[in-house]
Amino acid sequence: MVVCQLISGSKTQTLAPLKIIFLASSCLSLVYLFVSVLVTQAPIFDNIWLTKSDYADISFETTINHVVFGIASASKSWEKRKEYVRLWWKPEQMRGCVFLDAMPPLQQNDANASLPHVCVSEDTSRFRYSFRGGDRSAIRVARVLMETVNLNHTNVRWFVFGDDDTVFFAENLVKTLSKYDHKLWYYIGSISETFIQNDNDLSSFEMAYGGGGFAVSYSLAKVLAKVLDSCLDRYPHLYGSDARIYSCLAELGVALTHEVGFHQVDLRGNLFGLLASHPLAPLISLHHLDKADPIFPKKTRHQAVAHLLKAAALDPLRVVQQTICYDHMFSRTISISWGHAVQIFEGNVLVRDLLQVRNTFKQWRKENMSNTDLYMFNTRQVDSDPCKRPTIFFLDSLSKNLNTNDPVIKSIYKSNGVGNCLETKDLTKKLQEIRVFAHRLDLHIKQLEARRRQCCDVLPFSSDDKVLNIAIRECGEDELAYMHQ
Ligand SMILES: *[C@@H]1O[C@H](CO)[C@@H](O)[C@H](O)[C@H]1NC(C)=O
Ligand SMILES: *[C@@H]1O[C@H](CO)[C@@H](O)[C@H](O)[C@H]1NC(C)=O
Ligand SMILES: *[C@@H]1O[C@H](CO)[C@@H](O)[C@H](O)[C@H]1NC(C)=O
Repeated sequence: MVVCQLISGSKTQTLAPLKIIFLASSCLSLVYLFVSVLVTQAPIFDNIWLTKSDYADISFETTINHVVFGIASASKSWEKRKEYVRLWWKPEQMRGCVFLDAMPPLQQNDANASLPHVCVSEDTSRFRYSFRGGDRSAIRVARVLMETVNLNHTNVRWFVFGDDDTVFFAENLVKTLSKYDHKLWYYIGSISETFIQNDNDLSSFEMAYGGGGFAVSYSLAKVLAKVLDSCLDRYPHLYGSDARIYSCLAELGVALTHEVGFHQVDLRGNLFGLLASHPLAPLISLHHLDKADPIFPKKTRHQAVAHLLKAAALDPLRVVQQTICYDHMFSRTISISWGHAVQIFEGNVLVRDLLQVRNTFKQWRKENMSNTDLYMFNTRQVDSDPCKRPTIFFLDSLSKNLNTNDPVIKSIYKSNGVGNCLETKDLTKKLQEIRVFAHRLDLHIKQLEARRRQCCDVLPFSSDDKVLNIAIRECGEDELAYMHQ
């Protein structure tokens, strides 16, 4: 009790280690929070025993240096699209080419040092293309795989392919690839979000969409590069490049390994729902952002992506990972999509309902066909009653406390002031800022394979009612996330 009295008066509002913040909380929750800190701080690897032989075949961890990229573009679109590539491309770490049909006219004052080299694709006029209304550049783009392999880079484990409007989260890409043995044959990617895109004769539920990006292990890519041209002759009737790669891999007998962090984004409009309920897997790519609204309000599309990448630079594996906690005292449900947004719902919303994607976006296909609004994940309509919709706070800024050897990252979210519910509780109306504290998420390969969502606590201690502090931590062994009545 003495300890409680001593610390309950202290106001530790600076970016202190979680321990301090926890200690500064009220006496009531002290014991509980202390236990949570113990859980948070416990060395995770003690619980998961790995023997040396588990790693015998992956002697050195895969890094970005083991990856070679092949980016498909065109001389017409590169000038505009390269600004997306510039956001994620790190020339000192990354290898590969952007493939154009012709050398672009040299631009003056063009700082292209931060962009991949330009390679000019080989001529493909000898191949047939018979998809009516399609674009025969699909053949050239399929051959990006072969021409990238033929650059003869050394020390390659993975070839990764994407479009000029694909934004890669490189650390998460590499972390995900490191789960797989690059010496085996792997074709890794994801399908379209839109059911009808996958469900037709030209496509497949087992095909990696090219815009979402996909990875092919070195040994498989070498073989595929050798046989690809012969496959291209057999599929002139297909629409895209990815369908051609898929068909050739099917002939080789290789199936897709699905990784849900690759996002083709065959969606238009507001992507909020998708980013707010991202599956429990690292965010690897986003695509088609020109067809969607900027992912943060009051920013251009490029600024908005750059903002999310800032969060990714500090804590890549946590970006858009959803964490849900309950403000038991004031009966509010809080859903965090780390690095993007925090939603506050009045009352009790169950975790299972928050995992479903709010259909904030518009369908990809503009034609009036049936089933164009079916998706590959559970969706829910946005509530027509504005009072049942959450108050949304978007990422404003981030900082890292460097004073400890286990730094805490603070991310601050601010409301964009839009809300049409007159009945929103005064408490939430007054809130201007949400501060989320978390350690950098470091997951071992075994932990990546068996993920568990993390837990969070609303910290009872706050300087005033304009700020809500939340800490993310590992959950207790049998801890459940629900509203305590
Ligand atoms: C810019 O790109 C052109 C054409 O690809 C190349 O010749 C030139 O060396 C590049 N400049 C820099 C600074 O990389
Ligand atoms: C890559 O190696 C092959 C086979 O040795 C060779 O024919 C080809 O010219 C090389 N390509 C480049 C870009 O060096
Ligand atoms: C689309 O279909 C719906 C119902 O099938 C119909 O009500 C609507 O008028 C159609 N819209 C257009 C633009 O054809």
